[in-house]
Amino acid sequence: PYEDTLMQRNREETRSAYPESPYAYTASSHAIPKVTLSQPCMEGFYSKNLLGTFHSDLRCLRYYYKDVSFPMNLKIGFETLKVKDEEKTKQEKLNDILKWIKAKEQLNNKTFNFVCFRGLLTTLMVTPYENREGWKISAVKYKDTIYLWQEDTEEKKKRLQNLTLKDKEMCYYGRKFEQYTSTGDVDMLPTTDHPVDENEEFCCVMSSKIGNFRLLYGAEVDCITANKKVTAAVLEKEKTLKDFVELKTSQVIKNIKQERNFKRFKLLKWWAQSFLVGIPKIICGWRNHDGIVSSVEEFATSAIPGKGKDLWSGNACINFLHDILHFIKAELDNLGDLEGGTIEWSPRRPVMFKKLPRDTKSSVLPHWFIE
Ligand code: A3P
Ligand code: MG
Ligand code: MG
Repeated sequence: PYEDTLMQRNREETRSAYPESPYAYTASSHAIPKVTLSQPCMEGFYSKNLLGTFHSDLRCLRYYYKDVSFPMNLKIGFETLKVKDEEKTKQEKLNDILKWIKAKEQLNNKTFNFVCFRGLLTTLMVTPYENREGWKISAVKYKDTIYLWQEDTEEKKKRLQNLTLKDKEMCYYGRKFEQYTSTGDVDMLPTTDHPVDENEEFCCVMSSKIGNFRLLYGAEVDCITANKKVTAAVLEKEKTLKDFVELKTSQVIKNIKQERNFKRFKLLKWWAQSFLVGIPKIICGWRNHDGIVSSVEEFATSAIPGKGKDLWSGNACINFLHDILHFIKAELDNLGDLEGGTIEWSPRRPVMFKKLPRDTKSSVLPHWFIE
């Protein structure tokens, strides 16, 4: 009985709920901005090559190629896809951005409240409108900065285990579209006859402010529009991603219901993802069920909230992102260095913070970063 009481007390001590439902943010009062996200600034970049090796240079930057011909077959080469080693990615957690931080000495005099990847911020932002997938985040505090890492929820692990061949093929379509519409060498046409490799990526490290919180986040970006080779000096001088484009694919819309779903779910996610890094243009390849693209359409990121009007509010997303970061910070402010916890949410449930048990150090940061 004594142990039971003790355990219960520990449980009580280590859990707290965010007081509002994320869905409360869909109320009209949240359609007006409480805070803003400042213009994202590019602090630097890095490349991951075919083997997933980190390089602090532009070797994996790709250039947008617009003169594609139709129909474009996205099914080709599915059997030769080089899949990303998801286990390695999960183990490495924030390592890439941490490596970048270590290498970037000028950054030492800037402090950030949060360090994470853009995908995590996108996930948080769209929560008020999400009714299918929950999320789970590990947070750790180190020298007044909070490091955030998105974990797989149990539901997501199950979903990934049960992907059918057709599901995997649909994921491949997006990758193949990138290969048709971009090239690694600005003076060469895209090469579409060799395997798609998911390990190769080019990432930008962005800084921004939401309310009073300073954020630093890594983001994989698809390609840049340029008619000559871009150098590191040119990119460093520019500081924004105004010349970058985001590539997407989507199934051709045939009826009003599909159109509503496209605006309600897909455009919201597309907008949040590109808005967070200041990419002004999204190129959508309209494909059929079998991966045949018949046309391409450009969406201006800034025009997307207008298309989703009546279905979602970008301001509500920004307000929620700010408030949930505030909640995480308030919880971690009570903790010591390298202590932390998890923040978890499932649709129609409250957001819960669970502190790591006392004397347990978080595994989000590797030794070499702390030392
Ligand atoms: P589509 O989004 O066009 O389907 P991104 O658009 O973020 O640059 O991602 C590029 C492609 O990677 C996606 O293209 C999709 O094929 C694949 N992809 C990205 N996130 C994924 C996820 N969570 N599950 C499956 N595939 C994903
Ligand atoms: Mg991408
Ligand atoms: Mg893309």
